[in-house]
Amino acid sequence: MRLDTYLVKLGYFDSRQKAKEAIKRGFVSIDSVVVTKPSKNVTGVEKIEVRCEGKPKGYWKLKEIDEKFGLLKSDYEVLDVGSSAGGFLMYSAEKCKKVLGVEFSEEFRPHLIKITKKYRNVDIIFADIFTLEIKTNFDVILVDVSLDLKDSLKIVSKLSKKVREKMLLVAKDVRLNSVEQAKRYIESCPLEVTNVMTSKKRESYLLLE
Ligand SMILES: C[S@@+](CC[C@H](N)C(=O)[O-])C[C@H]1O[C@@H](n2cnc3c(N)ncnc32)[C@H](O)[C@@H]1O
Repeated sequence: MRLDTYLVKLGYFDSRQKAKEAIKRGFVSIDSVVVTKPSKNVTGVEKIEVRCEGKPKGYWKLKEIDEKFGLLKSDYEVLDVGSSAGGFLMYSAEKCKKVLGVEFSEEFRPHLIKITKKYRNVDIIFADIFTLEIKTNFDVILVDVSLDLKDSLKIVSKLSKKVREKMLLVAKDVRLNSVEQAKRYIESCPLEVTNVMTSKKRESYLLLE
């Protein structure tokens, strides 16, 4: 059986995707040797060690971005727009003082409620960010909504006066010319693009300050 499938069967992870991520990141060893190939064949007699809890993909994504941009600090209050599986929420909750998540899809309600029980510094509002009135300011705002660039930028514009330090925009299918387009658009907000990171998945992470 494949290693990733086996780890889900054993209950270490609730999806093969999460098992794959952990294996690729070197958190799994077989007979004391780290294995990074999710498709590695196992029979069940091996001694398997897993050195992390299953975490959604977004958790690892934000960790990588944070390590590059130095985004989050322990005394920060964070707004996470588009919380879905809760990866950004969990990572921010482990690093920062307080996190508020906003998600409009009811599909994620049970999962996100579970996260608020586990992480006492997390709150969730189920609402549409376009119509939600945000009354307080946040040190960092994370915008990861899977919408097209134009709509994501409308959210950036709406929230630009609510951010004290930095905003992170996850932009889908962004090539260099769209990053330039985003930079020009953002010029009309009190923010500017100070760093850009691209991923293999045709996503770009724009740091706005
Ligand atoms: C790519 S997912 C975010 C993944 C998340 N950052 C994580 O770490 O798991 C995008 C989410 O944004 C939500 N979303 C899209 N438009 C929204 C809106 N207008 N208001 C609130 N949430 C929205 C979607 O329902 C979806 O769950």
